[in-house]
Amino acid sequence: MEILETKKEITDRLHTVRLDGSDIGLVPTMGALHNGHASLISRAREENQTVVVSVFVNPTQFNDPQDLLKYPRTPERDIQLLGELQVDFVFIPGEKEMYPEPDERFFDLYPLDAVMEGKYRKNHFNGVAQIVTKLFDTIAPDRAYFGQKDFQQLVIVKRLVQLMGYNISIVACPIIREPDGLAMSSRNIRLSPEERQIAPFISQTLFKANKLKSNYSPSELKQWVIGQFRKRKAFKLEYFEIVDDTELKQVKEWSEHVITVGCIAVHLGKVRLIDNIIFN
Ligand code: PAJ
Repeated sequence: MEILETKKEITDRLHTVRLDGSDIGLVPTMGALHNGHASLISRAREENQTVVVSVFVNPTQFNDPQDLLKYPRTPERDIQLLGELQVDFVFIPGEKEMYPEPDERFFDLYPLDAVMEGKYRKNHFNGVAQIVTKLFDTIAPDRAYFGQKDFQQLVIVKRLVQLMGYNISIVACPIIREPDGLAMSSRNIRLSPEERQIAPFISQTLFKANKLKSNYSPSELKQWVIGQFRKRKAFKLEYFEIVDDTELKQVKEWSEHVITVGCIAVHLGKVRLIDNIIFN
């Protein structure tokens, strides 16, 4: 495994790799790696001759400076895990390498960025678009792997690929959960032991909502979920929306022809958690 810190080094190395006819899979991450990330990497390992993982905590996607400051960083552990997963290249640049000057680019992601995460985290997705385009331009992968855990991000990245005309397949990977159902997240380690114990209430509520679906309209189901969180004072529900899986528009009626997703964001103590469920 090679660990590279500059765009020039990785571009040069991947140039030779490409000349050998090898295809390239990219897994973009912000580090503090867990089994959710590992699942994306294993999938990339199965499908590509060369696997690149980027580890970069991207400042432009954080709307809250405190969140950026407190974002967990575990580079040594990450590199050890990436070695075990048989990654070929780790791209771990510093901030000046990715942003030698401020990135003024604006990406027109409307209306996908106007709802849910986009509504509560202003400019978050523009920051994601800035870093993802920089990574795609530098690494030029054949395939890039994204988790359904960040469902809206996945939809937006697909849109970005169309908008920019990239010849990159976006591979969607399912949510990996802890045994008690909590969606794995780098932020989970910031939960207190008490918070960690009650956190599975979020996914349990989503699973229950999926079971209740046939008894309720989408708007009734939304109210049911809101009601569940009203009873549990430790949780502050930010949003729960039932949307379609391509345009992220609110679904008014269940339909066999439309895949619907229930997306949620909840504050538990000082930690903001997101999760979602694809209804079936
Ligand atoms: P990060 O939160 O590190 O996540 C990297 C990738 O891992 C994302 O595609 C995310 O959806 C996926 N992932 C995280 N937890 C997962 C889980 N429990 N199951 C399945 N996949 C999971 O998302 C980002 O970083 C950044 O926004 C990034 C795309 C790297 C741009 O900075």
